[in-house]
Amino acid sequence: MKFFADTADTAEIAALAATGLLDGVTTNPSLIHKSGRNFLEVIREIAQLTPGPVSAEVVASTTAEMLREAAVLRKLGENICIKLPLTMDGLTACKALADDGVMVNVTLCFSANQALLAAKAGAAFISPFVGRLDDIGYDGMALIEDIKIIYDNYAFDTEILVASVRHPVHVLQAAKLGADVATMPPSVIRALALHPLTDKGLATFADDWAKTGQSIV
Ligand code: E4P
Repeated sequence: MKFFADTADTAEIAALAATGLLDGVTTNPSLIHKSGRNFLEVIREIAQLTPGPVSAEVVASTTAEMLREAAVLRKLGENICIKLPLTMDGLTACKALADDGVMVNVTLCFSANQALLAAKAGAAFISPFVGRLDDIGYDGMALIEDIKIIYDNYAFDTEILVASVRHPVHVLQAAKLGADVATMPPSVIRALALHPLTDKGLATFADDWAKTGQSIV
């Protein structure tokens, strides 16, 4: 399972890239706003921090304008993945870009039929937003399960990129369902490594080791 960082914070991305556990980055207009930085500048920088796909989202609403924005974004790095909204215009742009060999992430997916359309349009990734579904009383993970069945039925190459991940349980559930990717805030990636018994065990080992009076190097 691949882990993407859902952030435009370059310091966080650099720190995660150094662990060797980071497979890519996703951004969106809200994350760019939060970074307080110039969109094109920050995406160019992120693309250099990780060799994995870096999703950069268009803001246009028509196919023609999306394609114009995509042409600008593609120049920011070899690993740029164009992020398009799940609308008919977005799907049309996705098909055109995919036919041209461009990696596309179709975002704001909230139904299995939407995911089916994205796969037919040749998307490299589909981004179902599990947290936002949970927020309004739907079952976000049930959507992942449905998409997985449909994509397996037809052997679609489109990867299921679980988005709007809010906590480690989302990651566990997505992994059990066989999702290809989870994109999550850096805090969630770090939380995956935590367990109170690990901390407790380390404290005990450190105490006992100190009592031996030995050193390894
Ligand atoms: C990722 O591509 C999405 O933009 C992101 O996961 C949305 O997360 P949110 O629902 O927490 O804003």
